[in-house]
Amino acid sequence: RNLWKLEDHPKLPKGKPVAVVVLDGWGEASPDPYNCIHVADTPTMDSLKKGAPEKWRLIKAHGTAVGLPSDDDMGNSEVGHNALGAGRIYAQGAKLVDLALASGKIYEGEGFKYIQECFKNGTLHLIGLLSDGGVHSRLDQLQLLLKGSAEHGAKRIRIHFLTDGRDVVDGSSVGFVETLENDLRQLREKGVDAQIASGGGRMYVTMDRYENDWDVVKRGWDAQVLGEAPYKFKSAIEAVKKLREDPKANDQYLPPFVIVDENGKPVGPIVDGDAVVTFNFRADRMVMLAKALEYEDFDKFDRVRFPKIRYAGMLQYDGELKLPSHFLVSPPEIQRTSGEYLVHNSIRTFACSETVKFGHVTFFWNGNRSGYFNPELEEYVEIPSDIGIPFNVQPKMKALEIAEKARDAILSRKYDQVRVNIPNGDMVGHTGDVKATIIGCKAADEAVKTILDTVEQVGGIYVVTADHGNAEDMAKRNKSGQPLVGKDGNVQILTSHTLRPVPIAIGGPGLLPSVRFRKDIQEAGLANVAATVMNFHGFEAPSDYEPTLIEVADN
Ligand code: 3PG
Ligand code: CO
Repeated sequence: RNLWKLEDHPKLPKGKPVAVVVLDGWGEASPDPYNCIHVADTPTMDSLKKGAPEKWRLIKAHGTAVGLPSDDDMGNSEVGHNALGAGRIYAQGAKLVDLALASGKIYEGEGFKYIQECFKNGTLHLIGLLSDGGVHSRLDQLQLLLKGSAEHGAKRIRIHFLTDGRDVVDGSSVGFVETLENDLRQLREKGVDAQIASGGGRMYVTMDRYENDWDVVKRGWDAQVLGEAPYKFKSAIEAVKKLREDPKANDQYLPPFVIVDENGKPVGPIVDGDAVVTFNFRADRMVMLAKALEYEDFDKFDRVRFPKIRYAGMLQYDGELKLPSHFLVSPPEIQRTSGEYLVHNSIRTFACSETVKFGHVTFFWNGNRSGYFNPELEEYVEIPSDIGIPFNVQPKMKALEIAEKARDAILSRKYDQVRVNIPNGDMVGHTGDVKATIIGCKAADEAVKTILDTVEQVGGIYVVTADHGNAEDMAKRNKSGQPLVGKDGNVQILTSHTLRPVPIAIGGPGLLPSVRFRKDIQEAGLANVAATVMNFHGFEAPSDYEPTLIEVADN
C-alpha cells in the first residue's frame, strides 16, 4: 500500500486552484499608533476580517504552539513556516539544545566528540549571535556551552560574536558583551585561556541568508578566520561602545572588528587544528557560513586561507545537503511535510517570494530541506531582493512583483497550489521605522488584493495567513500595555517579533459556501493550517496531523 496516498475528503472537491498567502510579520493587535497594520490603509485584509467567525479567525503563532520552549518565546519565521508546512508541532532547536545542555547529553554526542579531538592542541572557536532573543541562539546556551566545553577539556577558547538589535532591543549588545566578558574572566581564573576574538553586526557580518549577499559572510570570514577587519580594539566592550558612538550606528549593522593584543596582533584567527562551533540553532542565517567552513570546493568568495579544522554546527542546518556534517544536537526530524504528501498525490505547486524570504516558503516550509521533492510537479521562483538598500528606504520591497508572479502562475493553470510569502510587515518592521512599516503594510495588502482578484477570476480558493507578529506592534510596552519611554524621551521601538496571534482567512469562489471554521478548536495554531490546505485540495490530512480548522456544514 502506498503510504503517501491521502484519503479523499468526503465532501470537498479536487481540482480547485488554491492560493496560500503568508504575510510575514503580520499579527493581530488592538488599534494603536504603533500598530502599523492598523494605521496603514489595508482594505483587503480589513474586508477579510468581516468574514469572522466563519471565514476569518486568529491562530497562535508563538511559544509552545510552534514548538518553542515556553509561551514567553515570540514566534519566528523558521518555526512558523515549519509548523505551517509540516502540520505538526515539533520541539524546535531552541528546546532541543536546552534539553541536551541540561542533561549533559550534548557532550556525549558524536559532534562534540569530533571537535573535542582538537582541544589538546587547538583552539575552540564559538561563532554566533550574542542575544537572548531566542530566535537564532540564546546567550544562556552559549554560557552553558562555554562552561561545559572547558569542563570537557577546552583550554583555549575564542568567541566570535554577532550583535543583534533585531530580535532584541537596539543597544542591548553592550549588556550581552559585559555578561560574556564576565563569564570569560571566570574561565580565565580557572586557567582556561578564553577571550573574545572578533565581532560585528548580524546584518552586516556573517548572518546573511538564502545567498542574498555573500559579501556579508566574507566580512565575517575575514575577521573570524583571517583576523582582518577595518576596526581593531583591545576589548570587545570598548569595540561595541565606540562603534555605537556613530549616531547612525546600530547593533544590527555594526562593522566587523577584531580584538588585538598589546602588539596589535589579532588574538583569535582560526588556524589548522582548531575546532569551530557555530552556536546558532536556527538554520537560515548559518547555512552560508557553514558552506564556507565545510566545503572544500567553494567559489562564493576568496577565502584566502581554508584552515583544516573540525567544524560542528549547534544543529544540522540543512537536512537535504546534510550540512554541516557534524553537529552537537540533532535537529527536529520534520518528516512527511504537507509539501511532500501533496507531491505524492499529484498536486502541482508553485512557490515564490523575494530572496530574503524565499527559503521561508520553500526550505522552512519543507522542514528545513532544500530543493524539490519532485521537480516535475514543483516550481520555486525567487525574485532577487535589492541588495544594499535598507528595507525602510524601499518599504514596498518586491510585494507587487511577488503578487504578479503568483497571478501569472494561477492564470497559467499549471499549478494546483500557488504559495507566496509577502515579506513587508516583517522586513520593514525589523528596521524599527514606523512610517516605512506603514507603507510596507499597505504594499502587502495590495499584493494580497492582486492574488485574491486572480483567485476570483479562476474560481479558486484562498488561504491568507501569517507566520508571526511584528508590524502590528512597534513599541516596547510596560505590563499594562503602555509604550515605554526611553532616556531620550522617545518611545522605545520594538524591532522584534511579538507574541501576538495571527489572522487566517479562507474564501474564494471555489470554496463551498458550507465550509466554515470549526468552533471546537479555540486553541488552534499555525500547525492546523496544513490539514486545512490539504482539505482544500480535496484530501483528508494524515491522521497524525494537527486537526483541520474547517468543517463542512450539512445544509
Ligand atoms: C531574522 O533572521 O531576520 C530575524 O531574526 C527573525 O526574522 P524572521 O523569523 O521573520 O526571519
Ligand atoms: Co522577522
